[in-house]
Amino acid sequence: MRCHTVLSSAFLATAVLALAGCAQPQPPVAPAATAATPDFRPTASVIDLMAGQIDPAADYLWESVATISGPKGNEEKQPRTDKEWAEVRRQALILVEGSNLLMMEGRKVGLPGQTLENPPGQGDLTPAQSDAALQADRASFVTYARALQDAALGSLKAIEARDAAALLESGGNIDEACELCHKKFWYPGGGTPAP
Ligand code: HEC
Repeated sequence: MRCHTVLSSAFLATAVLALAGCAQPQPPVAPAATAATPDFRPTASVIDLMAGQIDPAADYLWESVATISGPKGNEEKQPRTDKEWAEVRRQALILVEGSNLLMMEGRKVGLPGQTLENPPGQGDLTPAQSDAALQADRASFVTYARALQDAALGSLKAIEARDAAALLESGGNIDEACELCHKKFWYPGGGTPAP
């Protein structure tokens, strides 16, 4: 469409509006989700996140600092090279961001038919029961996920300072955060030992 100027002074106001309209085309129909509130699509279950991201990343951090006793005495294992520090940093970030994924609304504990790999202990919640507990008290679940994130941020800080002792200490905080959530949403009867 071409824009043309209306010459008649009687229609000046209309002309200005017409020109303005021409210079600034109307925005398209507002999409369902805006940039501020994107339409997230939680697809993995909490169990999937545990098995695929949270547990492996935590294991990596826990194993990154250790005292290994051998025939020649104790060997202190810790990240030393740039490459090793970069890798523990990546794993800490998986935990930090994985905690955000846990906090997202609409994520189920288990997908239909999904079961835990760990054999159930006495009094353990099934994924469906755990999901019901989550629906009933989302606030607690989010608080526990936040605590895990705080602990993982502690690891990240230690890694950025290349402080192996602080990294070891933050590992203990991570362990505690896992336990707290599991005690409420997995094994309230105390049946399953800590992973
Ligand atoms: C905010 C809550 C929360 C936090 C924090 C959390 N988990 Fe979980 N985790 C769950 C829930 C819920 C389940 C499933 C329980 C159920 O189905 O009864 C689970 C299950 C698991 C499983 C079992 C997977 C399987 O298939 O058997 C492992 C392993 C696990 N978590 C590891 C961890 C580790 C390691 C951490 C800490 C680094 C952690 N979790 C932190 C909520 C949490």
